[in-house]
Amino acid sequence: MSPSPTGASLAMESNARQHMLRRLKKAGGGWVSGEDLSRELRISRTAVWKHVRSLRSEGHVIESSTRKGYLLRQMPDRLSPSEIGAALRSVRMGRRIVYERQLDSTNRLARDLAIAGAAEGTIVVAEAQTAGRGRKGRSWFSPPGSGIYLSLVLRPGFQPAEAPKTTLLAGVALAEALSAFVPVPVTIKWPNDILAGGKKVAGILVEAAAEIDAIDYMIVGIGINVNTPPGIFPADLRGRATSLAAGFGRPVSRVDVLGDLLERFEREYDRAGREGFGPVIRRWRELSDMAGRRVRVHSFGRPLEGVITGIGDDGVLLLKTADGDVERIIAGDVEYI
Ligand code: BTN
Repeated sequence: MSPSPTGASLAMESNARQHMLRRLKKAGGGWVSGEDLSRELRISRTAVWKHVRSLRSEGHVIESSTRKGYLLRQMPDRLSPSEIGAALRSVRMGRRIVYERQLDSTNRLARDLAIAGAAEGTIVVAEAQTAGRGRKGRSWFSPPGSGIYLSLVLRPGFQPAEAPKTTLLAGVALAEALSAFVPVPVTIKWPNDILAGGKKVAGILVEAAAEIDAIDYMIVGIGINVNTPPGIFPADLRGRATSLAAGFGRPVSRVDVLGDLLERFEREYDRAGREGFGPVIRRWRELSDMAGRRVRVHSFGRPLEGVITGIGDDGVLLLKTADGDVERIIAGDVEYI
């Protein structure tokens, strides 16, 4: 009986598949010889062939020829670990990938993994969620195959009081990443909405467990409507929600969006670790178009009306009311009026 693979050997196998996929993609529809792959990966030709078989089982259409090697004809529109790994440019974020066809909620599984000791940078990705969670107990529409449902495990060194700023950090990374994929303006609406052409295209749900002076773990949950056809949004979202494909007029590669997002998130997160959240707050102000807009804010059951003047250095929303007072909003829902 052959020994069952260890965690390390599984990781090596998945790295090998990611390398092969990168090489096949880079060949742009050309052939890559089995001999080259076997030399680069320091594995036998039989092992190369086994990896090809497992890539095929994930939905990649790969042709093979004894003389020419392998050719990638078609990629599945899936967020499998091989696909994600081949698109990753981040160093730590996404280095361990937990992928499921369907989950109740990626935040729920990421939390369970964090409690069990999962390392920072572990990501949970699902093709569909049956109980996707939004802010304030709302649900997140998570149909199969068309969106990104992602949760990141973080173990930050900063103080618990800084935790809410992680939502702003994720918002900056997300708005910048999505801007590259749609021709319409992508903006941030406090605290956690990303809008494309004024409609919600993505949301962020940050959950944390902390002691009084240290954060144990944080889960950054991100939902993005990538190729969601506008017609399938539930009635209460129609007219308010959109997808990247709807803004772009053609399907968008989910794996490219995810790779770009993780790279930008890592860059912002590492910079916040070194320099604090100042750069994030400044960039957030540039990416949001809220300043100067008239709004109604529902905060702790108290409706307030006024004009947004921006966010403070501590991330709270600043609202100037009719009597000239500036209210500091630490949590709430904002409605443009
Ligand atoms: C919101 O706008 O209310 C936040 C939505 C966050 C949704 C994402 S989808 C992936 C992750 N898992 C969840 O259950 N929720 C977040």
